[in-house]
Amino acid sequence: MKKLLYTIIILTIALSSCNNQTTKSGKIKTEAYRPVEIVVDNPTVIELNDSTKEALFTRAKWLAKQIKFAYKEELHKVVTEQGMLEAIGFCNERAMEISDSLSVVHQINIKRAALKNRNPLNAMTEKETKIYKDFVIGWLNKAPMKGRIMANELNQPVYYNVIMMQRFCLKCHGNSEEVNPEVAQKIKELYPIDRATDFTIMQPRGMWAITFPEYSVK
Ligand code: HEC
Repeated sequence: MKKLLYTIIILTIALSSCNNQTTKSGKIKTEAYRPVEIVVDNPTVIELNDSTKEALFTRAKWLAKQIKFAYKEELHKVVTEQGMLEAIGFCNERAMEISDSLSVVHQINIKRAALKNRNPLNAMTEKETKIYKDFVIGWLNKAPMKGRIMANELNQPVYYNVIMMQRFCLKCHGNSEEVNPEVAQKIKELYPIDRATDFTIMQPRGMWAITFPEYSVK
């Protein structure tokens, strides 16, 4: 019951903040988006052993699929139906709203972390940097890329997995020949300290971190 009440409060805050952030004139906001953060009082204490890891891994993989759908499939749709400029609006706002609603429904926190980030809010913590570097080393050694469950600084279990660049992503994260000047201009307006360009295809771009705040690792 407490959880439900909490969810409703968060949802109300999330929805009202989305409204505040949406400009009347267009679909693109002028400031970086702050995702909702789910906080759970009295989390269940668990041990991170093979069986709990496996259970969280299965759940996280399913969730990652849903989130990827929100980010990628819908983005494709916006690009084909409305064009690349509108799609920036999607990345800047709509994708985050979808991700926020998944956070609320599933009681998880979702982060797309990157060292070379576009939105400074997506910067990596020290621990995330270490985990990401491990992924990059694995990639350089051509090891199979597989997500992992580990505890974060707050002892919450987190699913981490690398995000790879695909051809489509170059339109907004590639070099100056790949990113159309109008798109580059819009991105610059929204993200004056953008570091997320000049990536190449099939290169690690960043990392998903899906946190389960309902648990605390012993
Ligand atoms: C239409 C332009 C566009 C396309 C296409 C695009 N992105 Fe982005 N990307 C953005 C914008 C805008 C942001 C900043 C979102 C925010 O404010 O958090 C972003 C942020 C990110 C982030 C979060 C870290 C950061 O840099 O802030 C990752 C990771 C990312 N994109 C990966 C990808 C991948 C992988 C693809 C291809 C599957 C892709 N992007 C395609 C525009 C785009």
